[in-house]
Amino acid sequence: MTDEPILLVNGISKSFGGVKAVEGVSLSVKKGSITGLIGPNGSGKSTLFNLISGAEKKNPGGSIEFDGKQIDALPPHKRSELGMGRTFQTPRLFPGMTVLENTMVAPRGQKGERPFVAPLRRRWEGQEVELAKKAKEQMTRLEIDKLYGKLTSEISGGQMKLAQLSNALMEDPKMLLLDEPTAGVAPRLAQDIFQSITNERHERGTTFFIIEHRLEVLFKHVDTVFVMHQGRIIMEDKPEAIVKDKRLAEAYLGI
Ligand SMILES: Nc1ncnc2c1ncn2[C@@H]1O[C@H](COP(=O)(O)OP(=O)(O)OP(=O)(O)O)[C@@H](O)[C@H]1O
Ligand SMILES: [Mg+2]
Repeated sequence: MTDEPILLVNGISKSFGGVKAVEGVSLSVKKGSITGLIGPNGSGKSTLFNLISGAEKKNPGGSIEFDGKQIDALPPHKRSELGMGRTFQTPRLFPGMTVLENTMVAPRGQKGERPFVAPLRRRWEGQEVELAKKAKEQMTRLEIDKLYGKLTSEISGGQMKLAQLSNALMEDPKMLLLDEPTAGVAPRLAQDIFQSITNERHERGTTFFIIEHRLEVLFKHVDTVFVMHQGRIIMEDKPEAIVKDKRLAEAYLGI
C-alpha cells in the first residue's frame, strides 16, 4: 500500500426526490489498500458506490477522480476501461451458463464479440483458449476451480459470490468496488472470501473498496474504515479505533 490515493471523492451528493441518499461525501482511498465502508441499512453505501462507478448520476457539484483522472462525466463502461471494477449487492450471473462461461463473459475487448470478426473463427479461437486458461487460473486462486463446469443455477449463494468475485478479477481491475461480498454466505466461506481478497491484494496490488455488514470479518482484513450514517461519512479510522468509538454503536442503534 502507498500513501498515494487511487480514488478521490470530493463533496458529492445524490437525492432521490426528497431523500438525500448521499450528502456532501468526500473521501480518499489509498492505492493498494483494502478499505471498508460500513453503516446501517439505508445509510447510502450502495448509492455512493453507484455514483463512483457511474451507475447513478450524482447531483451537480463535487468531483470524482480515479487514478489521476477526473471521471465524473464518464459513463460506467469508460470508468471500467480505466480499471474500476465492481460487483453488486445481488449477484448478477447469467443463468443457464456454466461458472466458467460466466467468467469468460466479463473480459472486455474479446475479438469474437465484434460482429465483423466473429465469422473468422481462426482469428479468435486462440483468444478464447487463452481466456479459458486465465479463467481457470483465477478460479483456482479462489479455490472454486471444481465449480467451473457447473451451471450457475446449481451452485450455492456463497459459491455464487465467489464466482462473481472471480468474474470481476478477470478484468484485472486496478480497484474493485465490492458491495457486500459475503451477504448470505456461511461464516466459514465469508472468511475464505476475505482471505482471497487479501491474497489478491498481496499478489497483484489490487485496491479493494468494500461495503460489508459483517464487521468481525471485515475488520480482520482492512487497513481503513469509513462509517456512513444518513448519507454522510461520520468517521474514518483504522478498524481497531473504529470498534472502540461510541459513535459506531450510536450510528447502528440510530441514536
Ligand atoms: N433508486 C432509488 N430510488 C429512490 N430511493 C433510493 C434509490 N436507491 C436508494 N434509495 C434510498 O436512498 C437511501 C440509501 O440507500 P442505499 O441503498 O444506498 O443504502 P445502503 O447503505 O446501501 O443500505 P443497505 O445496507 O441496506 O444495503 C435509502 O433511503 C434508499 O431507500
Ligand atoms: Mg446497500
